Amino acid sequence: MMLLKLKWTSSGVKDTPHTLLSIIITFCVFFMLEIVDANSWWSLAMNPLLIPEVYVIGGQPLCSQLSGLSKGQKKLCQLYQDHMQYIGEGAKTGIRECQHQFRHRRWNCSTVDNSTVLGRVMHIGSRESAFAFAISAAGVLHAVSRACREGALSSCGCSRASRPKDLPRDWLWGGCGDNLNYGYRFSREFVDAREREKTFSKGSAESARQMMNLHNNEAGRRIVSDLADVSCKCHGVSGSCSLKTCWLQLADFRKVGDVLKEKYDSAAAMRMNGRGKLVQMHSKFSPPSGQDLLYLQPSPDYCIRNSSSGSLGTQGRLCNKTSEGMDGCALMCCGRGYDQYKAELVERCHCKFHWCCYVRCKRCSSIVDQYVCK
Ligand SMILES: *[C@@H]1O[C@H](CO)[C@@H](O)[C@H](O)[C@H]1NC(C)=O
Ligand SMILES: *[C@@H]1O[C@H](CO)[C@@H](O)[C@H](O)[C@H]1NC(C)=O
Ligand SMILES: *[C@@H]1O[C@H](CO)[C@@H](O)[C@H](O)[C@H]1NC(C)=O
Ligand SMILES: *[C@@H]1O[C@H](CO)[C@@H](O)[C@H](O)[C@H]1NC(C)=O
Repeated sequence: MMLLKLKWTSSGVKDTPHTLLSIIITFCVFFMLEIVDANSWWSLAMNPLLIPEVYVIGGQPLCSQLSGLSKGQKKLCQLYQDHMQYIGEGAKTGIRECQHQFRHRRWNCSTVDNSTVLGRVMHIGSRESAFAFAISAAGVLHAVSRACREGALSSCGCSRASRPKDLPRDWLWGGCGDNLNYGYRFSREFVDAREREKTFSKGSAESARQMMNLHNNEAGRRIVSDLADVSCKCHGVSGSCSLKTCWLQLADFRKVGDVLKEKYDSAAAMRMNGRGKLVQMHSKFSPPSGQDLLYLQPSPDYCIRNSSSGSLGTQGRLCNKTSEGMDGCALMCCGRGYDQYKAELVERCHCKFHWCCYVRCKRCSSIVDQYVCK
């Protein structure tokens, strides 16, 4: 059931006059951003200071303490300080889901440090970057929409989405729903700000990457809204369900991760054409939709550690001796072989239900074999 009638605006990039000056400025701006890092609003995910009391009572303004915000993001931060905690939580949710989806892969979405978060590999316009941008944008939309519903933000409340036409007539519409409409508008404004405030010369590699990022951010948000659905609760005499109240409800974020992982597997390789537009590398495939992920460059070699590409390598990763998939030792260790260790596995076991009402378990430990890439 698709309810939302959000307007998708194209993420077109404004053309700039090709004067020498603008080229020089563009170059300088790009160079500065390269040093600072391309995605550092993600660092909000690592920041523990986002507790409302701290910035309401504390003397120092919140927004100047946060590193990694672009100019436009700083402005939004000043106007909507109470949103920042949820942007941080959204980014964290996205990165955690990314780590879950990629736990058996050579690139496992591991965070590197507070300021660059996912590291230099994000400078490469690869499928992995496409996934990371999409899922973090999705996480922010999810978190802000939910925060509205929970009454945590001063500028939004429950969803005001109109009643779906196909809802049975005797069901009530109007429980407090996730405010996707507000969440969409705010998260797009905030997350995309970083891309939109840069101007690159038409046809440049930087401009291609900018279009890629904007597209993938939007794809993540669209998947969150497409997966949102109607949820209902029964009322009536002792569970008779004679009355139902329904509202708009976001899907579980795991579902968003699952769909985005499929999009990662089928991501479209793009290149820039002579008119500064992204076009598909292989024209025999059908053109990508707004929900598909786009990438521009092949992935770096994730097998070996390489500080210039930012690859962490797979040395020290756990692998599965019997699996023939990506988590198997052959593929995970890239043919380098593995070491075998004995490890102690502690589990809850012999759980007993006690009247009434709790479960008590024992802790059982066993020795298991572990395989670790050389
Ligand atoms: C990241 O931030 C946390 C909390 O601010 C701090 O404890 C930690 O040392 C930082 N790590 C790095 C690598 O900067
Ligand atoms: C490390 O990465 C860079 C940039 O991607 C590449 O040119 C270089 O060949 C890589 N080095 C090794 C040892 O693979
Ligand atoms: C992800 O990979 C890195 C580098 O190989 C490793 O240090 C880290 O422990 C891995 N994370 C998980 C959750 O396996
Ligand atoms: C290893 O892979 C096999 C085959 O895919 C699977 O049955 C098994 O559960 C995996 N073991 C672990 C520890 O994940």
